[in-house]
Amino acid sequence: MSSLNERIETLRARYGNRLAILGHHYQSDEVIRHVDFQGDSLELARKIDTLSAEHVVFCGVYFMAESAVALARPGQKIHIPDAQATCPMAEMAPAQRVEDVLTALRDDGRLVIPLAYVNSTAEVKAVCGLYGGSVCTSANAKVMLEWALQQGDAVLFLPDKNLGHNTANQLNIDTTERLEIDIRDEGRRLDHKKAQYARLLLWPGACAIHHGFKKSQIQALRLARPGVRVVVHPECPQGVVRAADGAGSTSYLIKYCANAPAGAKIAVATECNLVNRLAARHKAEGKEIFPLKPLACSNMAKTNEERLLALLENLDTATPLSLSDDVTEHSRVALERMLRICA
Ligand code: 13P
Ligand code: SF4
Repeated sequence: MSSLNERIETLRARYGNRLAILGHHYQSDEVIRHVDFQGDSLELARKIDTLSAEHVVFCGVYFMAESAVALARPGQKIHIPDAQATCPMAEMAPAQRVEDVLTALRDDGRLVIPLAYVNSTAEVKAVCGLYGGSVCTSANAKVMLEWALQQGDAVLFLPDKNLGHNTANQLNIDTTERLEIDIRDEGRRLDHKKAQYARLLLWPGACAIHHGFKKSQIQALRLARPGVRVVVHPECPQGVVRAADGAGSTSYLIKYCANAPAGAKIAVATECNLVNRLAARHKAEGKEIFPLKPLACSNMAKTNEERLLALLENLDTATPLSLSDDVTEHSRVALERMLRICA
């Protein structure tokens, strides 16, 4: 019996250019070896409309595949090997709650523009499209927040408060101009008085993995390993980003490690599949790359070779991912705004 690896490769060859497999950097090595294109969220979103394949298999988490559906060409079928691979942070901002809170804020007479981190549901992106807002990724959050601030009186940034604060720090938005809002009770607990004075209203969501990194871990590491460099993903808390030597998207972290000189010791604060891959890739150059703390994304790990093979074996009869026409149309508006602004 041939291995999973061989069976997947045989099917890939059989489908030829009818199939494209995309993978996020957090996927395991066993999955990544089968992808045609690997990237961060922005690169993957940009890739979709360049693909002519009839079937696109998206190895990542659900919101990424949903964005692919919104951006796909007519007739193109988007599949995800495990539909249970969701991003818990995206679930922290249910679309109805977002719309309720946004409406309550606008009822106070200010034009509040919604800006959703790409780690959000397609329904939330559709709310952003409908209300004149857009989407951002960790790679373009600064440009997109600057843009959103110019479109109205204030910005509702969601769901990641850490990315919101870190981006606000880059733009020198004073802490007195920011408010982490209370979203409980359908927005009835909003402090309208404080919200009136804030330019940046932050949804109280965070990624459990990145929120688990601590400034004290960096401080302890610097004492134990003088000369160590530390780079982090901007979903980490503000204190972690401030204590680091650099922060950016997964592709930024990859480039940082590639460009570091031989002999560099680099601690990376992000999902450990990626960090371990970087460690192996640069070992021969004498670079020591290791996780600041070994934290894995269990949702990214739901895509494995077994599930990828099961999907490929039935691809022509598999039901592709779909969104309602409304959600497709309005989430595409929000996504295309981002792609246009950051072209
Ligand atoms: P990137 O856009 O940097 O790839 O990050 C996606 C993500 O889910 C980080 O947790
Ligand atoms: Fe979501 Fe965090 Fe996993 Fe990224 S690492 S997909 S933000 S849970």
